Amino acid sequence: MVDRKNPSVLAAMAGITDGNFAHKFLTEGGAGLVTIGGYPIGKEMIRASNQIMSRGRKEFKLISGEEVQGLISEINKVSIINRVILNLRLNSSDDALYIINDLTKQIESDLVLEINAHCRQPEVVKLGGGEALLLRINTLKKIIDVLKSSDFLVSLKIRGNKIDPSLFIEQINNTDLDFLHIDSYRTGIVGTDLELLSYFSQNLNIPIIGNNSIIDSRGALNVLRTGAKYFSIARAAKKNPLIFKSILKHL
Ligand SMILES: Cc1cc2nc3c(=O)[nH]c(=O)nc-3n(C[C@H](O)[C@H](O)[C@H](O)COP(=O)(O)O)c2cc1C
Repeated sequence: MVDRKNPSVLAAMAGITDGNFAHKFLTEGGAGLVTIGGYPIGKEMIRASNQIMSRGRKEFKLISGEEVQGLISEINKVSIINRVILNLRLNSSDDALYIINDLTKQIESDLVLEINAHCRQPEVVKLGGGEALLLRINTLKKIIDVLKSSDFLVSLKIRGNKIDPSLFIEQINNTDLDFLHIDSYRTGIVGTDLELLSYFSQNLNIPIIGNNSIIDSRGALNVLRTGAKYFSIARAAKKNPLIFKSILKHL
């Protein structure tokens, strides 16, 4: 089960946070939860991912029709499956249904499935995936419902400053999301947008994972003081595999 006493989360970095990378953060790095992915699911998202790769950006490669085998192989490398968040790029509820059926058959442990409504790569957005899902709210809700029809926990990853928070809260309030993972990046501002995270924490009854620009215990504490239940780190974890250990010592 999710370790609620350890509020630290390794956040997704496509092409980097695979099973082996995440495993080290759990065993040696002290992270509470680790994200693997984002993985492209379905023909269209895989095509977009291949296009992104061909212009030199790192991505995870999956084969259309064999996504679940690829995912299972990475999940198994992490070894403690109930502390894994699987970040997925989806643009339709049909693709969500296709993978959920197969994942349910093959994985019994708790696992958190994270819908990536965060990616802004044009190849993905053009096909209605990533942050385009925030404008396709009915499709996004259908994807949430399909994933929630399993026993897995479901997280939604967004850029909180890409939407009107009060409207968005209304839109997702009646979904059964288990986590809302918020990248608080704000154009032109360096650091974490604590005001935004406070707003979501105060107005939404879903545990928040607060993200962006956390590099030390002060940053992590500031995020937790907004009411967020967890803090997540991506870039700084790439530079320092022991970052969670050193932060947790001071919390
Ligand atoms: C190279 C790279 C790849 C990323 N890929 C993903 C992804 O696949 N899915 C996702 O939800 N976020 C992705 N992110 C966003 C991070 O998870 C995180 O939200 C962002 O980097 C801000 O957090 P940080 O300041 O701790 O790095 C990526 C970030 C980087 C730097």
